Amino acid sequence: MVNNMKVEIEKLDYYGRGITHIDGKVCFVPNTLEDEEVEIEVVEDKKKYMIGKVTNYLKTSYKRIKPKCKYYDICGGCNLAHMSFEDENNFKEKIVNELFGHNCKYKVNIKDIIFDDEFNYRNKLVLHSDGERLGLYNDNSHDLVEIDKCLLVSDMINNGISDLDKYKDQIIRVSNDENEVSINDKLMTSIGDKKYCLSKDSFFQINKSLTEKLYNCIRDYCNEINPLKVLDLFCGIGSIGIYINNDNYEITGVDYSKSNIEDAKSNSKLNNCKNINFICDRVENVIDKFSDYDLVIVDPPRAGLHKKVVDNLIRINSKYIIYVSCNPHTLIRDLNLLYDYYDLKDIKLFNMFPRTYHCESISVLERK
Ligand SMILES: C[S@@+](CC[C@H](N)C(=O)[O-])C[C@H]1O[C@@H](n2cnc3c(N)ncnc32)[C@H](O)[C@@H]1O
Repeated sequence: MVNNMKVEIEKLDYYGRGITHIDGKVCFVPNTLEDEEVEIEVVEDKKKYMIGKVTNYLKTSYKRIKPKCKYYDICGGCNLAHMSFEDENNFKEKIVNELFGHNCKYKVNIKDIIFDDEFNYRNKLVLHSDGERLGLYNDNSHDLVEIDKCLLVSDMINNGISDLDKYKDQIIRVSNDENEVSINDKLMTSIGDKKYCLSKDSFFQINKSLTEKLYNCIRDYCNEINPLKVLDLFCGIGSIGIYINNDNYEITGVDYSKSNIEDAKSNSKLNNCKNINFICDRVENVIDKFSDYDLVIVDPPRAGLHKKVVDNLIRINSKYIIYVSCNPHTLIRDLNLLYDYYDLKDIKLFNMFPRTYHCESISVLERK
């Protein structure tokens, strides 16, 4: 491996890594900004790309800030903490527009990223134990990083870290109104005026305030669409269906997690919803049984939609699809498959995960 090579950073990639080229081969350098000059050690040399680690900053950008977190260099969970929050929001907007411009059949120009708190926004922290210490896994190496606080999580969670049993992994959650904390157990929480009970293994959106804005946006679209039959795929604990519900809708939610679906059924009762039913299965196993929906909402994990799911969305031919995505790459792949059948009516970007590279979006598609 080559050490102490001087390089100039050309631009950033989606993951917030600097891009440079060494003898024509692309090299990704974390913790750098555009136009910076750095010395690097090449720590990985693959067939198509290299990974560099900065050993010395020769010229730093005027945009560089000192990360507020003392674990920044050893944790790796935050990829963008060396730029201001304003620059982060501009960067996310620009990079997602670029990804669409280069790879998507639909022409889009996303203007405003919707954001909220920069820090203390997370309602959940998972800490791992090595038998003696409790900490986060480094994003790349999986080494344990012992922490006494994480700037991204609610202070209600941080305040409890020192009291935790260090001999086993711990999941700490706080309710979105920050009235209740739970360690490895059930929790009662809320989004807007809806209440949700949450078991240890169940999925719940981690941003305690921006989720309400995300869901309001989905509900506003639904009010415009005014669907009778709604399919809520990848429904988690039923949170979207319950949030948008009104007496006219008939909603079916699908999720493969038993814990999610048990909670979804309880949450439906808790919020007096009489017209929602839930199916516990893999979406790709059951989707060919569905037909006659006005609206299908999909909110898949980062891998996006299975090809069979896209094929069945085309077969179901609902008038509208709302696609909630946490990964623009797989979103673009799936949108390209729907291009011949649907128009993209709107797309909104949400910074649900500040200081990390992740971007959330909502796309609304209307049948051609
Ligand atoms: C991004 S979460 C969305 C949950 C929910 N819509 C919300 O807003 O809280 C994705 C969900 O998809 C579920 N899931 C992942 N792969 C699945 C599959 N192949 N079939 C069904 N559910 C799946 C997970 O259990 C998780 O609840």
